[in-house]
Amino acid sequence: MYSYLSLALMIYILGVLGSRGSAQDVSKLSLKYYDKSCPNAQQLVRTEMECAVRENPRNAALMLRLHFHDCFVQGCDGSVLLDDTETLVGEKKASQNLNSLIGFDLVDRIKNQLEGECPGVVSCADLLAIAARDAVILVGGPYWDVPVGRQDSKTANLEKANTDIPAPTQNLFALVTNFLGKGLSVQDMVALVGSHTIGMARCVNFRERIYGDFRATSDSDLNSMAYLSKLQSLCPERGHDNKLSPMDYVSPNMFDNIFYRSLLNGKGLLNSDQEMYSSFTGIETAKLVKTYAADPLAFFKHFSDAMVKMGNITNPEGGEVRKNCRFVNT
Ligand code: HEM
Repeated sequence: MYSYLSLALMIYILGVLGSRGSAQDVSKLSLKYYDKSCPNAQQLVRTEMECAVRENPRNAALMLRLHFHDCFVQGCDGSVLLDDTETLVGEKKASQNLNSLIGFDLVDRIKNQLEGECPGVVSCADLLAIAARDAVILVGGPYWDVPVGRQDSKTANLEKANTDIPAPTQNLFALVTNFLGKGLSVQDMVALVGSHTIGMARCVNFRERIYGDFRATSDSDLNSMAYLSKLQSLCPERGHDNKLSPMDYVSPNMFDNIFYRSLLNGKGLLNSDQEMYSSFTGIETAKLVKTYAADPLAFFKHFSDAMVKMGNITNPEGGEVRKNCRFVNT
């Protein structure tokens, strides 16, 4: 049995090791990959994203999460987008995706535009990487250059989707181990979780938290108690599993650092988010939460660096450029 201190030390050591190592082969990705074959690719994605986010700001969150769930299973290869067919089992029914992951229609819309302009050229995996970046900018977050040239997989992996996509019930040690396994450091993880500054979570994913240790982690001021009682009336102890609440209740449609300030006040909606600050083993992660809460530019810099790193997780198997993101080419 580990003591809290030795667990904290282990997370610290893993963090230091993780920040040094980067085993991904990104030699095939480049900023100029579509310069000749589809020079308007980036602009087309941007125009569609502008439209979609204007229509509904949550569309930004959907694209960002899709890219994340793509990259954590077989690398960023569009596997998350594949529908189930007679010969292929997709990832859409994985525990963290089912009834939760949405935005596939918007991907189809963007892909149609790309296929209209340069058929068979731009991969669905690149589409997601570019759309995720645009999503972040369009709701006030940082810009980063997206290296492109990813290929779409001809397979999906439901089993890996079930094991490798992090769950809100996991403790800090499990989360850190998972991210390190993908070549992402503790710093990358804490910065990337800042994505929860936008988007919504379902009652089923925060019930345990609001009937569990929410009171223990949060200040017991009127504000916190009013917030808790609002959450509990939205999400009763049984039923209403799909009722939605923003993960950043202060500015749910703005990409900012207020999410981290809520963690300092103990008001994180997901258990996994609050773990970053409140876990006894999270000395390193709590320090990062404090830094990001105080310094939005540090958050933006670490976040964009980590997004590039996550986007560089490639599938060594290679693949194809799908014509339709939902199906492998025939
Ligand atoms: C510690 C690891 C993480 C865990 C445990 C986690 C878990 C979750 C959960 C449970 C939800 C709500 C889903 C639902 O209720 O249907 C969610 C939403 C979301 N996550 Fe994460 N997440 C993690 C990391 C990330 C990362 C690294 C990103 C992006 C780079 C991300 C982006 C998002 C976004 C944008 C949403 C909102 C989606 C929407 O509005 O539909 N998450 N996450």
